[in-house]
Amino acid sequence: MRIFLDTADFEEIKAADKTGLIDGVTTNPTLIKKSGRDPIEVYQDIKDLGITDISMEVTGDLNQMIEDGNRLNEMFSEVITIKVPMTVEGLQACKYFSEDNIRTNVTLVFNAAQAVLAAKAGATYVSPFVGRIDDQGYAGTEVVRSCVDLLRRTNTQVLAASIRSTQRVVRCFYSGADVVTMPPGVFWQMYKHVLTDVGLDIFEKDLIT
Ligand code: G3P
Repeated sequence: MRIFLDTADFEEIKAADKTGLIDGVTTNPTLIKKSGRDPIEVYQDIKDLGITDISMEVTGDLNQMIEDGNRLNEMFSEVITIKVPMTVEGLQACKYFSEDNIRTNVTLVFNAAQAVLAAKAGATYVSPFVGRIDDQGYAGTEVVRSCVDLLRRTNTQVLAASIRSTQRVVRCFYSGADVVTMPPGVFWQMYKHVLTDVGLDIFEKDLIT
């Protein structure tokens, strides 16, 4: 059961990493844009923090993805996971990097058929987008479950993404996800229960000093 943070906000990553419970970070072009920073600087900061698994997304056609992926791998080989889209060329890039023993994450996965192809391309992770599947009116966690069942006999792990609530985190792990990547807000929310706060208040009041 691994927890990744789905953000490019370095201050948020730094704060959450202090808990000792964060196993990796996933980024994407939207999150990088939101950070307002240069992607290389963001990756460098996250690496310097000691995070050992950082998903860095490449885009464009096959040549572009391979060129960018190789360039990023030269800079961040110890920590990189190259994130590629679930497209024909994305999976060709996935195969290219996987054959070189570079970790890969196939993103924008919305059903088990796509996960099968990603596994065939040697993906380290497939990322079903749970929240966006839920938005379409069917259960994202059921797609996670299908991916987990289908990929059981492969080396590809299921990394549940597009997570918007603690309840979805739990359902994804119940469904067998190897990793759940979540926004920092959802991570911090996992600590919370109203009865924990109430119980703590009572204990503090009853404390004999
Ligand atoms: O990891 C993918 C994630 O960032 C997408 O999340 O909430 O935009 O669907 P969301």
